[in-house]
Amino acid sequence: GAPVKADVSKVEDGARVTYTWRGSPVWLVKRTPPMLETLPALSGKLADPDSEQPQQPAYVDPETRSIKPELLVMVGVCTHLGCSPLYRPDPAAADVPGEWMGGFFCPCHGSKFDLAGRVYKGVPAPLNMPVPPHRYESDTVIVIG
Ligand code: FES
Repeated sequence: GAPVKADVSKVEDGARVTYTWRGSPVWLVKRTPPMLETLPALSGKLADPDSEQPQQPAYVDPETRSIKPELLVMVGVCTHLGCSPLYRPDPAAADVPGEWMGGFFCPCHGSKFDLAGRVYKGVPAPLNMPVPPHRYESDTVIVIG
């Protein structure tokens, strides 16, 4: 499939925007400083906090899983059986069971991912959600694929 261009200047703080790349949803999430602050605190609860599994390009940071900390680009597909998880950035989200600091929740079988798409321990999904190849064409335009 052809690369997809995303204009990140149009994404509001805290929002998720969905693009389609190779038939899959690709999310752009603009993380705020409080959202980013949740990431280091979670590592003990995650299956692969340092992104050791090959679920992202080598040029992204292993904790934020992005090039620029505030902008996450991720394939929005659960690594269990392929449902598309819900975006639940609010730590008080009522439909997410257990300890929760915000992220992505798969309603199919209850897998939980943090705001970098890193999978929690003890859920059906085995791997962090995939980060697709991407690069900045300019300060505001990301090319995905
Ligand atoms: Fe997401 Fe099963 S498909 S938990």
